[in-house]
Amino acid sequence: MKDINILGIETSCDETSCAVVKNGREVLSSVVSTQIKIHERYGGVVPEIASRKHVELIMPVIDQALKESGLSFDDIDAITVANGPGLVGALLVGVCVAKALAFALEKPLVAVNHIEGHIAANYIKDKGLKPPFICLVASGGHSHVVYVKSYLEFEVLGRTRDDAVGEAYDKVARTLGLGYPGGPKVDKLAQKGEVNIKFPKVKFPKGSLDFSFSGVKTSVLNYINRGKQKGEKIKNEDVAASFQKAVIDILVENTLKASEMKDCNVIAIAGGVSANSYLRSSIKEECEKRRIKIVIPDLELCTDNAAMIGSCGYFNFVEGRIAGLDLNAIPNLSLD
Ligand code: KG4
Ligand code: ZN
Repeated sequence: MKDINILGIETSCDETSCAVVKNGREVLSSVVSTQIKIHERYGGVVPEIASRKHVELIMPVIDQALKESGLSFDDIDAITVANGPGLVGALLVGVCVAKALAFALEKPLVAVNHIEGHIAANYIKDKGLKPPFICLVASGGHSHVVYVKSYLEFEVLGRTRDDAVGEAYDKVARTLGLGYPGGPKVDKLAQKGEVNIKFPKVKFPKGSLDFSFSGVKTSVLNYINRGKQKGEKIKNEDVAASFQKAVIDILVENTLKASEMKDCNVIAIAGGVSANSYLRSSIKEECEKRRIKIVIPDLELCTDNAAMIGSCGYFNFVEGRIAGLDLNAIPNLSLD
């Protein structure tokens, strides 16, 4: 069978990325240009600045990805782009470039959902992984427990009712004065701390796999502010460790419950928060205890990247899901 090479483009937030992926599983090249340094000084992503930076960076990033893949545009079978969810201005840069390339090169255009892209990172990590499986998607914008029925069919079994878990990490980091992006910084600090503060966990009625992270985030903020007012010495590393345990344990718990509910003994994780060291070790340990197969993508496949978009694009392309040149960015695109 002829190899299928997909050029993937990702610009949904603050990463400008392009990759070339062969047959959905083999990454020939992956270039990620992060804007973290630019947004750091504002304490978070400034959408207008992100869009402008994508415009500047996208063509050099595409050129580099193609060069590193050792292929030319002639060898590319389809152009794939994440058209949502994300920041509308940022998404539009990727969508416009992908449409222009598809038109000029007379190649098919494939649109993919960014969250489905995160899930597809697991097909790169584990070349033999096939649906069905349960996937925990935990990122800056989303926290979902998903039943991946097929490469293109998804059932969301649980979701956050308020903040995404990455968002909670970023807010707690800001209060602790750690800066942006908060997740990796809280993760690092937590490794030096003890779990000795009880932050409340919200539990929904039995049977629900939903989450809520806004309460725990607020109680962390209150704990810090109260401590400051009383002039008490707060151990930031203990706050980080206790917060981390409260949010990650519920993610792991609900993911395991989903595997029981669906009688499915394969679990995968995805999204920026799946780079978290405690989540990775905890879910691995719990799955091993239960003899559940666990897939954990490499760190660079967890945070935003175009390789996952290229992989997801492949599975859409082989099913004939081709987009028109009227494709638009959909900032609130959902999974189901
Ligand atoms: O998937 P992603 O790169 O972008 C979105 O689609 O949102 O996820 C970014 C989120 C941020 O909130 C960041 O703080 C969080 O992932 N994150 C982490 C870690 N690395 C990134 N959260 C906890 N621990 C980490 N090691
Ligand atoms: Zn993402």
